[in-house]
Amino acid sequence: MIVLGIETSCDETAAAVVDDARCIRANIVFSQLAEHRPYGGVVPEIAARAHVEQLDGLIRQAMAAAQLEFSDLDGVAATAGPGLIGGVIVGLVTGKAIAAAIGKPLLAINHLEGHALTARLTDDLAFPYLLLLISGGHCQLVLIEGLGRYRRLGTTIDDAVGEAFDKTAKMLGLDYPGGPAVQRAAERGDPGTVSLPRPMAGREGCDFSFSGLKTAVRRLLDNNSSLRAEDVAASFQQTVGDVMVDRTGNAIALAQAFYPDLGHLVIAGGVAANLHLRQRLDVLCRERGLALVAPPTDLCTDNGAMIAWAGVERLAAGLHDPLDTPARARWPLDPDAKPAPFAGKKA
Ligand code: KG4
Ligand code: ZN
Repeated sequence: MIVLGIETSCDETAAAVVDDARCIRANIVFSQLAEHRPYGGVVPEIAARAHVEQLDGLIRQAMAAAQLEFSDLDGVAATAGPGLIGGVIVGLVTGKAIAAAIGKPLLAINHLEGHALTARLTDDLAFPYLLLLISGGHCQLVLIEGLGRYRRLGTTIDDAVGEAFDKTAKMLGLDYPGGPAVQRAAERGDPGTVSLPRPMAGREGCDFSFSGLKTAVRRLLDNNSSLRAEDVAASFQQTVGDVMVDRTGNAIALAQAFYPDLGHLVIAGGVAANLHLRQRLDVLCRERGLALVAPPTDLCTDNGAMIAWAGVERLAAGLHDPLDTPARARWPLDPDAKPAPFAGKKA
């Protein structure tokens, strides 16, 4: 079974071909970083236009790299949400057109399901496992119980963690995107120089909050012009680590109440590339008798292979989607999840 995967929900245009033997036959990502850098963040309209310009060429490249004809495909998977709606429409409509043209099923994939199932592609992981999804748009702890069975244990009540990294970098005058820049600066800094609040730490539950931390960094910089960016970055990263360990620790306890034999914590999303966080979560997992699974960085960040793989899994389970499936800006992985307490602008 061979599936083409298309991803266009944020600022990466991506196409990949994956089969049910877990072979990634092609995986091509075009990052729009350069186009958004002057604005210090992703501009939705620029992203949508860039997807339109890039996508068909990328799909052609992916098919050529896989040495396949469209008629060799068993299905076409495309991200149908959640994400920036203009981009999602570009990818989904393209996927529908190819599926219709070759007479093969369409798989309309939830982007979060793509991240959630990647560890089954890379590590052949069995259900259930706990997922910590940390990216520029998301910060969630989800119990992955089976295909289509996702129980959200916690989420952010305000900003995503990647956003907090990006905004902190901006305040410190570091590069965009901020995560890698903060990590590099933190390596040369002393986390003990300044202390920052640890939002939600010590509280019950598994929800996150980052807006207070961002405000604390701003106040710190406003009141003290002699601070070194490296020290603030190190303190910030350490604080995020403390919060991650606290919240994920609670989620592990909750997940183990459902599944006493739970064996794995999976991390995904761009922030999962952060070495300090990986190390802290690794220690936590060892203490709790779990193994940490971190897919390779290029499969943690947005890519087409995770969408193709989610398509393979759904197709193998006998699922596919009608050609009038809508694109969705919001699409929770766990529709039964209660809204986060005091939930603000983000899902
Ligand atoms: O998953 P991703 O590529 O895109 C989405 O948000 O969907 O994640 C991008 C985010 C950005 O906020 C970026 O600053 C952050 O991941 N990031 C990092 C690191 N590398 C990327 N954050 C912390 N440390 C890193 N090494
Ligand atoms: Zn993503």
